[in-house]
Amino acid sequence: MEFPVWVVGIGPGHPDYILPAAVRAVEAACFLVGGPRALELFNHLNRESKLIDRNLPEVLEYIKDKRKQGPVAVLVSGDPGFYSLLGYLSKHFAPEDLRVIPGISSVQVAFSTLKLPWQDAALLSLHGRPLEDAAHLLGEYPAVGLLTDPKVSPAQLADCLANQGLHQAEVYICENLSYPDEQVCQVSPAGLREIPAFNNCVVVIRRGT
Ligand SMILES: C[S@@+](CC[C@H](N)C(=O)[O-])C[C@H]1O[C@@H](n2cnc3c(N)ncnc32)[C@H](O)[C@@H]1O
Repeated sequence: MEFPVWVVGIGPGHPDYILPAAVRAVEAACFLVGGPRALELFNHLNRESKLIDRNLPEVLEYIKDKRKQGPVAVLVSGDPGFYSLLGYLSKHFAPEDLRVIPGISSVQVAFSTLKLPWQDAALLSLHGRPLEDAAHLLGEYPAVGLLTDPKVSPAQLADCLANQGLHQAEVYICENLSYPDEQVCQVSPAGLREIPAFNNCVVVIRRGT
């Protein structure tokens, strides 16, 4: 017998933002798979766990092996449907083997913290993507929400905005949302150059006039 693989969105990080359905799925699982922050949230359950690192084939083998013994919960930050391991897992498991529990995305938390609607915003992750992919969105949409990659520096984003002629844009940096060290600030495009790096951030850019 093989048990289902649960892909569980755990929200931005704070326990208050985890859905009850997600908690139930994790509690019912025998094995947990996730990043350090996600696993830490469920330390008290004392489940056998596997840390997700760069070695995805090894993580996959772990899941395939353990689901023969009991349900496995793969914990992903935010919502599973938005730049998570779900895409990878969907290629390796049949739909009937997967159960997906939605989570509150970091983007939702960013826009609500800024008290801004996001129905007209374009959303993009910069993880493993060139900044040029964001450039055309900046010209086309009134607002853009970016999941940052530490490899893309704030100065590079400043260059990108300058190249698009967006000198008046409003840039909001939303770091470690929902964590005790959450920081949200607004800077000008030029002010981005004063910031050393993006670390666990959603950056929201409003084109301005
Ligand atoms: C692999 S993506 C996962 C996105 C996730 N599925 C979601 O819906 O938010 C990881 C990126 O999400 C953003 N992120 C996740 N949690 C965050 C938080 N608590 N505060 C700010 N950004 C966060 C960061 O840009 C981070 O690099």
